[in-house]
Amino acid sequence: MLKLAAALITGLTAMGGWAVVTVKDLPEYVVAGRQYTLEFQVRQHGRTLLNGLHPRLEMRSTQRDLGSVAAVPKGQEDGTYTVTFTAPAPAPAADGLVLTLQSGFGNSELHLYPVAVVASGASRPPMALAERGQALFVAKGCNTCHANSDLSSRPDNTELTVGPALGSRHLPSQLVIQKVKHPASETMPDLRLTDAEAAAIAAFVSGERATTAGEASGRP
Ligand code: HEC
Repeated sequence: MLKLAAALITGLTAMGGWAVVTVKDLPEYVVAGRQYTLEFQVRQHGRTLLNGLHPRLEMRSTQRDLGSVAAVPKGQEDGTYTVTFTAPAPAPAADGLVLTLQSGFGNSELHLYPVAVVASGASRPPMALAERGQALFVAKGCNTCHANSDLSSRPDNTELTVGPALGSRHLPSQLVIQKVKHPASETMPDLRLTDAEAAAIAAFVSGERATTAGEASGRP
């Protein structure tokens, strides 16, 4: 297992290294025609914030390529970039806006879960906690180091087995919160998650699936 991980990492390093891309405030949905600014950080090997990159945001709806926008460094903050885009017209039902961040470091890129686009004036009910956690598990870069069999329709990202696989065995939510807020690790970074983000990710990693209609809410 460890040997395999080491071999994978060596292979990727030869291809230009690997990086963890972490999106700061992931929108739950976007409103057509409105402008959004995404902030994100790029960490080589999940640790070292990388300056001087030329990242890009690529936008796509199911069939259509919607072009790409260059990101710019955010002031003097190490390894931090922002990119501004305008949400396209609402796509046909079930379609979402597919965002991909090209980190500009080797081949490293991050495909996000499709983001729903709503017509201007419309809104959407908030996502269920574990659903939100699933989107964040990808957007924060957890999936770069941790495989997770609970991810449904997982965006096609490189998955290194740097950290233990999650999903098959569900960890208590408190433990997950503790770990993400205070990794105390030489490998796992502190990605500066907010309490709300940590709680959503913990709901997902602990196996608490979205409470769907008919399912008792508030179950332990
Ligand atoms: C750069 C790689 C890396 C990233 C990114 C990363 N982790 Fe980890 N994670 C590890 C490693 C390595 C371990 C195990 C050893 C350790 O703690 O150092 C670990 C351990 C854990 C554990 C404890 C697992 C157990 O079996 O007890 C949890 C839970 C966890 N990570 C969740 C997350 C979440 C959630 C994220 C995203 C917010 C994340 N990790 C991001 C590398 C990573």
